[in-house]
Amino acid sequence: MERKETPDLTVELCGLRLANPFVLASGPLSFSAEAIRAAFAAGAGAVVTKTISSHPTVNPIPHMADIGQGALLNTEGWSDLTAEAWVDTELPALRERDGILIASLGHTAADVEAWAGPVAAAGVDMLEVVSYVAGDMPALVRAAKVAVEVPVLAKVSANWPDLLDVVGALVKAGVDGVAAIDSIGPTLRIDIETGRPVLNRTGWLSGSPIRPISQRIVADIALRYDVPIVGTGGIGRGVEAVEMLMAGATAVGVHTAPLLRGLGFFDRAVIEMRQFLVAHNYAYAAQLQGLALPHLKKPLEPAGLTFAFDVDCCTHCNRCVEVCAYGARRLLGDEMHVDEGECRLCGLCAAVCKPGALRFELATGP
Ligand SMILES: Cc1cc2nc3c(=O)[nH]c(=O)nc-3n(C[C@H](O)[C@H](O)[C@H](O)COP(=O)(O)O)c2cc1C
Ligand code: SF4
Ligand code: SF4
Repeated sequence: MERKETPDLTVELCGLRLANPFVLASGPLSFSAEAIRAAFAAGAGAVVTKTISSHPTVNPIPHMADIGQGALLNTEGWSDLTAEAWVDTELPALRERDGILIASLGHTAADVEAWAGPVAAAGVDMLEVVSYVAGDMPALVRAAKVAVEVPVLAKVSANWPDLLDVVGALVKAGVDGVAAIDSIGPTLRIDIETGRPVLNRTGWLSGSPIRPISQRIVADIALRYDVPIVGTGGIGRGVEAVEMLMAGATAVGVHTAPLLRGLGFFDRAVIEMRQFLVAHNYAYAAQLQGLALPHLKKPLEPAGLTFAFDVDCCTHCNRCVEVCAYGARRLLGDEMHVDEGECRLCGLCAAVCKPGALRFELATGP
């Protein structure tokens, strides 16, 4: 494909064009029309409303905790605004907007039957249905498909043991796309000063630690079903969104990163993704979609590792030596040594070398 100087970040999700792959997933940053307008202004390609339901939620006090390393614990429910408020005031206030508006609707088929029509008529581009009960999800999708003409996404959860079968049932029910995944839980952190659980109970985990889980699930879905995926969970940088697209996502959902670090996240992530595309000669973000999937279908089985050491890059931090569980690596002055009899070819020494002074190549031959 011909290289463009300014790569094209637009992606097509269920027939709708997003200016960039970043979707603000459902959560507190999309609690009202004003908040959603701010997310569009910050550069989100699409925004999913906080989940609208027949009854507004009353959240526990407190219900969000930053637990470090880009992770968040929450016990937040759905929208604390009524469905009537969304239909009469919030959604109509967004008729003029700079991106794709997706209304999240839960949590039962009866809720969807009651509200999908009015919510769609209030002018949204797509619906996203969500339930805490996996087995209820196909009924929510069917109810939405009967009620509206706009595309219907379904939000799926890693907490469901039979997630892939659920996605199969959703595809059968006519879903147009899936958003994977919701926050994970229940999880537990203890405040050691009080001995009490953080947030006074177990909570739901989101942010960086869940990224490898969300990516594996996105890849599993992409390998099995031909359905657009909004890959969501733990994305905190543009290059992490690149990974998610390569795992098979069509677009990338985010919430914790912009919540903890501000809406400037969108600008930074778009710039970083664009830089990646330029540096790697891609003309379109959409070219990245699913690039990792053939490698998952047929993993490499290397016969060995060939190490390369660049002494000029080495900071002599000794990390590569410290992490070798087998005592196989030594840095003696400017010389790097490996005891080939002890080395198990695990790869960790090169993986921890931040300056890239120690690298390996895969040896595939016999
Ligand atoms: C505080 C908070 C509230 C959330 N509320 C909702 C919600 O109302 N509906 C929903 O479908 N997902 C909700 N989510 C889940 C997010 O949309 C997203 O799927 C999840 O946090 C993983 O993405 P992240 O790691 O980028 O945050 C919420 C997440 C957080 C952190
Ligand atoms: S980890 Fe890298 S930089 Fe540190 S001593 Fe080893 S080779 Fe040098
Ligand atoms: S590859 Fe593993 S076993 Fe071999 S030197 Fe590096 S850390 Fe040690």
